[in-house]
Amino acid sequence: MSDLSLFDLKGRKALVTGAAVGIGRGCALALARAGADVAVVDRDAAAGTKTAEEIRSQGGSSLFVACDVTDKSQVQAMVEQVVAQFGRLDIAVNNAGIAILGADEEIDQAAWDKVVAVNLTGTFLCAQAAAQQMIRQTPTEGKIINIASMSATIANCNASYDASKAGVVHMTKTLAAEWGRYNINVNCISPSYVLTPMHASTPLVVRQRIRQLTPLGHVQRPEDLHGAVIFLASAASDYVTGLDLMVDGGHTLNAWLTPLTRSVPPRVTPQQETVQLKHDLQVLGWPFDAEGINPDVHPEIADAFKAAFGVRE
Ligand SMILES: NC(=O)c1ccc[n+]([C@@H]2O[C@H](COP(=O)([O-])OP(=O)(O)OC[C@H]3O[C@@H](n4cnc5c(N)ncnc54)[C@H](O)[C@@H]3O)[C@@H](O)[C@H]2O)c1
Repeated sequence: MSDLSLFDLKGRKALVTGAAVGIGRGCALALARAGADVAVVDRDAAAGTKTAEEIRSQGGSSLFVACDVTDKSQVQAMVEQVVAQFGRLDIAVNNAGIAILGADEEIDQAAWDKVVAVNLTGTFLCAQAAAQQMIRQTPTEGKIINIASMSATIANCNASYDASKAGVVHMTKTLAAEWGRYNINVNCISPSYVLTPMHASTPLVVRQRIRQLTPLGHVQRPEDLHGAVIFLASAASDYVTGLDLMVDGGHTLNAWLTPLTRSVPPRVTPQQETVQLKHDLQVLGWPFDAEGINPDVHPEIADAFKAAFGVRE
């Protein structure tokens, strides 16, 4: 006897925002491989189109929809386009997000506003438009999954990013409480450091430090989130709502930032960590070296990472 059908997404209609590369692309691939039809939503049409093609080339059903999640009319039109193509909307993964690094005593208001506009307001606009559709359709139900961050819980990046992600976690709880009456589950996933184009500038010494501070011992890859997104998108999570599912290899458990000793090698090698990252950098046309590091990176970003982890080269 098997209960694996609990995770089956065959016939389900999904959208993923920010799905051209990185975590969003990983979520889109995972949902498609579990059987869902998936709309790849992104403001980057060139890269987003490639990801939709990639899903189709693997036998899935996918379309690309251009959308800037900070613009309410674009978000409404995006959901309409997805429903025109798929007939309904069962799963919405609200993943599009940005970080603008900089010391908080100096950062200007425009940077703050931009981060909050994408990460918090954009996530709300997408959740709202998805819920409106899920409420309209018969049967009325759906799964909304917001991508937050461990930065919602620990002070990790800077104020605009951390506060916007804390906002996503609490907004998720409020929406879960409100929309349960429509059989809409609203949950979020909080990753740690994931090797995506957002981290193409993370220096090697910092990656090594992350490995040392993470009980499961490797730097997170987009595919390390596949199980979590399938769980929250499927019937397996029908009685789960308002959850902030931390998927961090135990990173946030290591409260004293103590380098850990290992007894066996981690499941993933440093070479395997960068497979998806290199794919994404190639799609974006960004240069990268053998370690998947963009050599054009601004030195101040690399320095900010080193300072945050207390490492010197
Ligand atoms: N990489 C990490 O370490 C990490 C950790 C925790 C949480 N997250 C979160 O995961 C999500 C994805 O991060 P990532 O690392 O894959 O980022 P990424 O920069 O690699 O990719 C982000 C994607 O979102 C798209 N995007 C950005 N702004 C948009 C907008 N206004 N409208 C539509 N699309 C937009 C980009 O074009 C890109 O395709 C973000 O919300 C991020 O905050 C990332």
